[in-house]
Amino acid sequence: MSTEEDTNAQKHHLGIAKYGEGALSYNNYLKVEELKNLQVCMSEPPHHDEPLFIIIHQTYELWFKLILHEIDEAMRLLNEGNVVRATWFMRRVATIFKQVLVNQIHILETMMPVDFLGFRSKLNPASGFQSSQFREIEFAAGMKEPRIMQFFANEPATLAQMQKRLDQPSLSDAFYELLIARGFAVAATIAEDESEACVEAHEQRVKELRKIYEQPEKYYDLYELAETLIDLDENIALWRTHHVTVVERIIGFKKGTGGSEGVGYLRSTLVKRSYPDLWNVRTAIEL
Ligand code: HEM
Repeated sequence: MSTEEDTNAQKHHLGIAKYGEGALSYNNYLKVEELKNLQVCMSEPPHHDEPLFIIIHQTYELWFKLILHEIDEAMRLLNEGNVVRATWFMRRVATIFKQVLVNQIHILETMMPVDFLGFRSKLNPASGFQSSQFREIEFAAGMKEPRIMQFFANEPATLAQMQKRLDQPSLSDAFYELLIARGFAVAATIAEDESEACVEAHEQRVKELRKIYEQPEKYYDLYELAETLIDLDENIALWRTHHVTVVERIIGFKKGTGGSEGVGYLRSTLVKRSYPDLWNVRTAIEL
């Protein structure tokens, strides 16, 4: 790709592509016609409920795109030491999760289990497992599981993008780097294993985080940032809880189209956290 094409592709990715010469209108600015043509049913004849299923997933993916855009900016600002503005964008991310993503999954409960069965078999083997943007959000937040990469083995461009996200620092890394710059004795990253060194590194972090959580006014910018990270973590966990409940209501304990055992697998993910030390500090603090 030439540099010019590269820049155009980047602009497109961020949604700032240049318009042609025609007069601007609501419909052409928002590409409404193009949007309306992006729902392609797999059922034949199209099942009445399949557009609902497609549109709800597409809207999730659009919000995921914006969330990644905001997280990238927050990380850039954190690297510059601009904590206030980074916190502002993280507040936006947490609000999108809380007000939209956690709640909208329940719209699917207006689809009868028998209606979902009317087109479910056509979706095999596509699955939420393969939502690369959801995985990128997990990685960017700090929840890096290399095993996830297997789901993208047949999609080279996606795999490369995921690898980039896996290799680059996460919000968790940026947060602890910031603490180090402010004089706190914490590890920026911790190799997660069963070793004593790993346990000690987490204990040391909690010890240092206590200073912030026991005197929030003294460290208010760090406290506020930490709480927006917790907001994001909490709302990802809440999304998982709402999603698995809706899944149970619609398909019970049937296996997933991605090959997992379904509800049993999804329940096992409910304990995942990006910032375990920020959760643990609450147990440790004292007056
Ligand atoms: C009828 C509605 C839905 C059903 C029955 C359903 C079912 C499932 C099942 C069974 C899994 C486990 C993986 C597998 O074996 O396929 C899964 C994972 C997942 N689904 Fe859904 N889902 C539904 C709607 C949605 C929606 C609207 C989203 C929005 C993005 C979504 C996103 C995901 C994600 C990201 C995962 C991976 C979770 C993880 O591994 O931690 N699902 N889903």
